[in-house]
Amino acid sequence: MKILIATDKPFAKVAVDGIRKEIEAAGYELALLEKYTEKAQLLDAVKDVNAIIIRSDIIDAEVLDAAKELKIVVRAGAGYDNVDLEAATAHGVCVMNTPGQNSNAVAELALGMMVYAVRNFYNGTSGTELMGKKLGIHAYGNVGRNVARVAKGFGMEVYAYDAFCPKDVIEKDGVKALDSAEELYKTCQVVSLHIPATAETKNSINYALLKDMPKGAMLVNTARKEVINEAELIKLMEERADFKYLTDIMPAANAEFAEKFAGRYFSTPKKMGAQTAEANINAGIAAAKQIVGFLKDGCEKFRVNK
Ligand code: 3PG
Repeated sequence: MKILIATDKPFAKVAVDGIRKEIEAAGYELALLEKYTEKAQLLDAVKDVNAIIIRSDIIDAEVLDAAKELKIVVRAGAGYDNVDLEAATAHGVCVMNTPGQNSNAVAELALGMMVYAVRNFYNGTSGTELMGKKLGIHAYGNVGRNVARVAKGFGMEVYAYDAFCPKDVIEKDGVKALDSAEELYKTCQVVSLHIPATAETKNSINYALLKDMPKGAMLVNTARKEVINEAELIKLMEERADFKYLTDIMPAANAEFAEKFAGRYFSTPKKMGAQTAEANINAGIAAAKQIVGFLKDGCEKFRVNK
């Protein structure tokens, strides 16, 4: 069996070494395609492989057509909006993710961005503190839970809204559960986004939702750029000089944001919430183990295209 790691944004070397150990211990062969620049390189690399480990790499019908021997794709991470699930099912390919494995890394980056923003992007002027500020966590999954844990350490007052998570589950963590996204954005000066990109959530973070955020509002997006209605966020930030936006997923309109909102807009050049050695090791090795479990024992835990 041949397993391919296909990562446009590579794992830390220590994670690749760990994955290799798991794969070779199972008697399989590991191939590596990193930092590829053309889709053709991916199409060529998948030709003879039985399993693929990816990150935000796109697995669409064309890739699946090229991968004639493919049995399983594991997205080493949480969001799998980069995989065409219907096409995978049609090709008889199992798709899994590795939930929770990189969530602390993403949570730490979200809090880091909040500190950066309240300290005026470290420009030397007098800023404010996170302690006592109301933080709204939009979607209370693995990342949201970790954000709550770290934010409580900062002394923030933590609120959450999740359409799918029962309120008592949220409140067990000492977090105030709210009934709607509207209530969350009205209540909290800082909102951290953790919703997946789905047909329902795309463009859902819009002017109507953001306009009622309290004075000195800050939106932190370590989720997906697609959930933001960029044109409406720009309109809002033009109207509200107190509004800050920080993200690790560069908006399509990055140049416009950067030009218009200097000092209250920040984006990393690449998505980097999960870019830590620890997260790479956790998610990468979990992916390798899930592949071995699937190929050897037919284990389908974490399958997302049921
Ligand atoms: C995820 O969905 O797990 C995160 O967005 C991390 O994505 P990445 O592996 O592309 O950094």
